[in-house]
Amino acid sequence: MIRERINFLRDELNKYAYNYYVLDNPLISDFEYDSLFKELQSLEEANPELITPDSLTQRVGGVSSSFAEIRHKYRLYSLDNTYSYDELRKWYDRVIKECGKSVDLVCELKIDGLAIALSYKNGIFVQGATRGNGIIGEEITQNLRTIKAIPLKLFEDADVDVRGEIYMPILAFEQLNNMSDKPFANPRNAAAGSLRQLDSSVTAKRDLSMFTYTAIIERANEIPKTHWDSLQYIKKLGFKTNPNIRLAQDIEGAIDFCKEWEVKRSTLDYATDGVVIKVNSFACQRELGFTSRAPKWATAFKFPPEEITTKLINIEIGVGKTGAITPVAILEPVLLAGSTVSRASLHNFDEIKRLDVRIGDRVLIKKAAEIIPKVIKVADTPEHDSLPVYEPPVYCPDCGARLETREGEVNLYCPNEKCPSVVKAKLEYWVSKEGMDIDFIGPSVITQLYNMGLVTSPVDFYRLQEQDFLKLDLVKEKSASNMYNSIQKSKQQPLARFVTALSIRHVGKETADLIVGAFPSLELLMNASVENLANIDGVGDKIALSVHEFFHNVKNIEMINEFKTLGFTFVNTAKVISDELSGNTFVLTGTLQTMTRDEAGAKIKARGGRVSSSVSKKTTYVVAGDSPGSKLDKAQDLGVIILNEDEFLKMIGEK
Ligand code: IVH
Repeated sequence: MIRERINFLRDELNKYAYNYYVLDNPLISDFEYDSLFKELQSLEEANPELITPDSLTQRVGGVSSSFAEIRHKYRLYSLDNTYSYDELRKWYDRVIKECGKSVDLVCELKIDGLAIALSYKNGIFVQGATRGNGIIGEEITQNLRTIKAIPLKLFEDADVDVRGEIYMPILAFEQLNNMSDKPFANPRNAAAGSLRQLDSSVTAKRDLSMFTYTAIIERANEIPKTHWDSLQYIKKLGFKTNPNIRLAQDIEGAIDFCKEWEVKRSTLDYATDGVVIKVNSFACQRELGFTSRAPKWATAFKFPPEEITTKLINIEIGVGKTGAITPVAILEPVLLAGSTVSRASLHNFDEIKRLDVRIGDRVLIKKAAEIIPKVIKVADTPEHDSLPVYEPPVYCPDCGARLETREGEVNLYCPNEKCPSVVKAKLEYWVSKEGMDIDFIGPSVITQLYNMGLVTSPVDFYRLQEQDFLKLDLVKEKSASNMYNSIQKSKQQPLARFVTALSIRHVGKETADLIVGAFPSLELLMNASVENLANIDGVGDKIALSVHEFFHNVKNIEMINEFKTLGFTFVNTAKVISDELSGNTFVLTGTLQTMTRDEAGAKIKARGGRVSSSVSKKTTYVVAGDSPGSKLDKAQDLGVIILNEDEFLKMIGEK
């Protein structure tokens, strides 16, 4: 009896959740849904042996310590893309040539989120993973289970693999950012950050959704013959598909779709950066096949970056952690590429002069999908000539020190190391995602701690007690303990993060990784000579000098000793998985398709190989991607072995 009631409730809830989250068509009130859900929960609590993982009560799982890498059963390909309609026509001509007839096309929105792959066995969700490089991804099943648009159980008993895009609705993104001290740059980063949580209850609190756009059907009641039919079928199975799709008879029909959505996309509550055009017939798709990175049967049209004019209300002056003074445009708020923009980058004072931007001007601002908007030029402003010419500041707006220029650099600098803005910017960088990644501590907390004189250097964070946080605005026991714990936890952050977080001049995350790669312990690093530092590939004299100086400055040495006393571990986590490439030096050139050059470099290093930035007789292999530079010519001259991306992946066993 109980078992039957449980099964009945699960099926009912599944149906209601599908109608609510997938079809956007609620069948019952929230109240009714909640009471059924609670009934199921209490029956399961009383009869735990009857709990199965596909029950809707089982969406939130536990905490894991890391994400496992998994090899995708079917590769996740990329897409070729273009901004030009003529290119689309050329692509279609090639399709027609191969398939020998007119070919139907499915037009879909290109969702700006994260690609993931889901596997279902006997209708039950068994595994989900990020795209990774298309061949190997990270297993994040537990986190994906918390997303309501991902069915835990399908309406049919089928074996399918699906792909889709995880996204965060724009409104949810803005709400999340409003509550957070460390805002995400765009909804995609917010979605990625939410998915990469080791504690799935954090993911569960974020409003993530998914549009499914590809199905690989292994066993099911229907085996569709076209992409269009497969989309209808997976919707019937329980997946959420994007409703804005069209079957076009030829490329002109597809172009019409692109033109329509270029305008209408701003009305959507999620970000889209283009249109994906796919050959409808699977038979024709098979004839066309794939290149090494992308299907020949699909292509993407990317929307041009959006531009809009608005009024420049003011130019604010920011002071960065290096003391660099940066002008920021304060704008009359406008809606651009799906979000409200009220600030934009103005680069530096030379740029303001070059563009002759004056406060009060109308300016053209532009935003590509992921970049902070920037001021492109002055738009038509009748009163421009009567507005005062903008004069760069002479004194630091915060501490009043006279600003300086530095040789070879366009920026102005505040030279005062104790300037409150500089100190706070360093502290903010210390806790940032790129630095020690300390949750719950952001700019407003830092300003308060600084104003109370509790924190003026990163070491001070680690001297704070839980009760210190209770002195902050609106902070209660729970968040005080969260803040305290996340600071303490950061003592275990890897060495490369520590070196990054120190804000050493000219040393960002990538350089810190290089340096720690060569000097894998703090002692080695502190004792490294300028020459040894400068010998690291990618580290020049300027950086070497700056690092050396930093670690030989008495105050910094004292600070580091304090970190040691406070229990910092300085672990080096550069992963070495084998020594198969040891003794080999690689040079990477050109654009790789399945990974960035940095990722390729990490793969080489993880196998004991070396990566160098220039080709010499000592180079063992050059890995060349698209549009390689002069390094390829040099490799040919010297007779160095040249690998393409595929050969490289085969060499390291990833293909
Ligand atoms: S199809 C083999 N359809 O775009 C076909 N991709 O630039 C490849 N994307 O990694 C994917 N919306 O993350 C497809 N409707 C859509 C899409 C879509 C977004 C993403 C996907 C892919 C990237 C390729």
